[in-house]
Amino acid sequence: MHCTRQITEDVYYVGASDRRTSLFENLFPIERGVSYNSYLITDEMTCLLDTADSAVSQIFNENVAYVLNGRKLDYLVIHHMEPDHCANIAEILLRHPETIVVGNEKTFSYIRQFYPSLDLEGRTLSVKEGNTLSLGKHTLTFYMAPMVHWPEVMVSYDSYSKTLFSADAFGTFGALDGNLFADEVDYDRDWLDDARRYYSNIVGKYGAPVQTALKKLRTLDIQHVCSLHGPVWRENISYLIEKYDLWSTYTPETKGVMIVYGSMYGNTENAASILASKLSEKGVKNIRVYDASKTDVSYLLSEAFRVSNMVIASPTYNGGIYPKIENFIDDIVRTGLKNKTVSLIQNGTWAPGANRAVHAKLDSLCKFTETEISVKSSVRNEDLAAFEKAADEITDSLLL
Ligand code: FEO
Repeated sequence: MHCTRQITEDVYYVGASDRRTSLFENLFPIERGVSYNSYLITDEMTCLLDTADSAVSQIFNENVAYVLNGRKLDYLVIHHMEPDHCANIAEILLRHPETIVVGNEKTFSYIRQFYPSLDLEGRTLSVKEGNTLSLGKHTLTFYMAPMVHWPEVMVSYDSYSKTLFSADAFGTFGALDGNLFADEVDYDRDWLDDARRYYSNIVGKYGAPVQTALKKLRTLDIQHVCSLHGPVWRENISYLIEKYDLWSTYTPETKGVMIVYGSMYGNTENAASILASKLSEKGVKNIRVYDASKTDVSYLLSEAFRVSNMVIASPTYNGGIYPKIENFIDDIVRTGLKNKTVSLIQNGTWAPGANRAVHAKLDSLCKFTETEISVKSSVRNEDLAAFEKAADEITDSLLL
């Protein structure tokens, strides 16, 4: 049975939520599920904007059929060729032999790669930056947004409904629980963490292209944002744009401290706890401590985007960094996350060497507080002065 929503005049939500898949891209935990959004405009011409993941094919195709209500489908616009959105292209084209596929040069190159047997002869309309597609009252203008999140990504703006169809941009993990619009939920409380985790892990490497896209969008009067994942925005759109501006310039959202530790037998955890307590005694609020062995790295990276300060506490392992911590640091390097103030704790029974290895990876991206704590097996009384000094330096850096 169909399950659709009307967004505004002639514009319908025909996507669906997936609460069964446990790992997005077979990589990122999605305990709250995810939605694969798709939209259908029913003007003089009908136009479907992207398809959906194969996990929701049945409901997606029922939704499209219901909203079309027997009409033919004139256009299928492909903003993004990743399979979480393009998996139903072949099915749509089979059901609607009249449909013209709208994309750009790269879109069609990727369609041929994903669907080598799909015959698109005479069924394509290739668009470039600034090209328009009139559907009647609604006219779509296309803007290229390469690397947000793949090279072929484009967005479109409907000047009649003042709607931005933003591809992956402004998306988030999380299934839609009936409430389609961001103003129907407590986004800041219930969605922002997942939106940040989605951004930082999926698009985080591409800050510069996101900035380029934001500059283009600033010229538009946007009253609805229809992303390919998560709620639709129709109020307070500047809230999300400001978040994207921060994230894509690697600017912390808040002055705050995350402490990430790896600990085999509890001694490095103890060191992390001692430093956290000293920071609290000095007035630092909202400190968050993470066990890298228990916390999926996607959450750690997301938190690293949010805060100004990181403390990395690592046992020395094979002469270097504890693997779970190293995985987190490598994610920072892969993403190019910068502008963080980092403080270090290492532990080692015979040759502590983790701090040196962290420096080798992060020196070009981060600045470090001066006092670096080195523990031999377990924290002893004579170590506490260094904890005190490190806590002072972190507290001072938060005041800058
Ligand atoms: Fe939601 Fe880049 O795909």
